[in-house]
Amino acid sequence: MRSKRVFGSIRARMVAIYLLVTLIALLAISFIVSMLVESFLVTQRTQTQLEETTRLALEIAPDMDAANTGGLYELIVRRAQEMGGRLLVMDADAVVQLDSASYQTGFRLPYREVRDVLIGGKEASFGFHKIGRGEGGEAAWGFVDDSVWAVYYAAPVTVDGVYVGAVVFSALLQDVEDSVSEIIRQITIAFALIAVTMSILTFALSRVVTKPIVELTGAIRRMGRQTGVRVDITGSDEMAELGEAFNRMSEQIEAHDRIRDEFVSNASHELKTPLATMKLLSESILYDQNPDPALMKEFFGDVNHEVDRLSRVISDLLRMVKFDQSEEPLALGRVRLDRIAREAAERLRPMAHKKNVGLAVSAPEPVAVMGEASRLDQVVTNLVENALKYTDRGSVRVSLARDGEDALLEVRDTGIGIPEEAIPHVFERFYRVDKARSRETGGTGLGLAIVEKIVALHGGDIKVESEPGRGSAFFVRIPLAGEEDEADEEIEADDAD
Ligand SMILES: Nc1ncnc2c1ncn2[C@@H]1O[C@H](COP(=O)(O)OP(=O)(O)OP(=O)(O)O)[C@@H](O)[C@H]1O
Ligand SMILES: [Mg+2]
Repeated sequence: MRSKRVFGSIRARMVAIYLLVTLIALLAISFIVSMLVESFLVTQRTQTQLEETTRLALEIAPDMDAANTGGLYELIVRRAQEMGGRLLVMDADAVVQLDSASYQTGFRLPYREVRDVLIGGKEASFGFHKIGRGEGGEAAWGFVDDSVWAVYYAAPVTVDGVYVGAVVFSALLQDVEDSVSEIIRQITIAFALIAVTMSILTFALSRVVTKPIVELTGAIRRMGRQTGVRVDITGSDEMAELGEAFNRMSEQIEAHDRIRDEFVSNASHELKTPLATMKLLSESILYDQNPDPALMKEFFGDVNHEVDRLSRVISDLLRMVKFDQSEEPLALGRVRLDRIAREAAERLRPMAHKKNVGLAVSAPEPVAVMGEASRLDQVVTNLVENALKYTDRGSVRVSLARDGEDALLEVRDTGIGIPEEAIPHVFERFYRVDKARSRETGGTGLGLAIVEKIVALHGGDIKVESEPGRGSAFFVRIPLAGEEDEADEEIEADDAD
């Protein structure tokens, strides 16, 4: 219910935005169109009427002597009717001689346009006037509005190059204004229709935009209850990207869940096995009425061994979890990896002796990395320990050298090797190629997982190459420490050797 309201409002917002944009555009268009139409009509109108006025002035010039005014009056009235306005004939002093509308003559009407032609020497002139009832407009024009726009035209009447008077024609612009208002009215109706259509369309189409959001919301809700929730992805727009991101996130969450479940079950199993063995051993002693002291000693030896194993698994697990939570950031410092490699190998030499496997270290140059010594020692130790553990004859070689910007540690053995299909898994927690053998040798399958974590924390990577029956090689790459200090190390190394 709530989602419906939210998306309803998104759609409403889209409609509102579209509507606003449309209205602004339409208003601008109608304003511009009406302006253009008006100016076009007015220009045309004034041009024609000015020409007509000028022509009339030429026509009446010969009859301008006072004797003939009677005949002229009829002409003026007829023309005024034809031209759709009011005609005045004035003498050179702007005193009205003839008036087509009322025959009210004898007073001066010194309009600007008249002065233009009689004093200013212009060939013709026109101007716009707002006229009202008070000016006798009602009588002359029959209009009822308070005021209207009119155009006044003036043309000089000349006889032999001398100004004898002027013709004034005035006409209302009302019809032009009416046409423009009519155009605006029609545009408004058309625009209202467009706006309504746009709103309906936008509302309908906005569903296309909001549908994926609605689906995604549903999917997110379902995710808490079921697994394998995915959304359908169509197209390649931002919504599709969002869908893809969601699907990826969903996959990752499931993968994490799976890893966690596996981890818990593996860890429990690893903890249970030594416990079961101990239980078995202790019961067999407990229920034996007369236990043989020698046998008892052997059993307790076994129990002790299992306890060691258990505590080793637990400490490995704790270490793992700590890394996962990255609770302890590395105590970074300059670490001489060559020394660590040599020391680790020395510590494991007894194990090599015992197995009659050769162990050689080759670290010809000082190699310094930024890191934490105890962790890096763990890396070397785990790798060499594995190499010895899974090698019955031959040798284990540890080599360390600089390779470009990195330190390259290689631990190579001539042992049983790792089958190709197992290689991608050896760094997984609890993974062991041969469970039976590992148990015998006391492995839990956490060693390489820890190694990989430590190497990654140092900004490096680890790779493995192996051939079953011939041996394995692990390669660890860790970025070298800064160059400047390298020189110091060089001197230090010289001193040490
Ligand atoms: N050098 C090697 N030669 C052959 N197999 C190896 C080698 N190193 C690792 N493996 C295989 O990879 C598996 C995982 O190694 P890992 O070190 O993580 O576990 P582990 O040695 O069995 O137990 P632990 O947690 O005690 O180290 C081993 O069980 C083994 O099967
Ligand atoms: Mg190991």
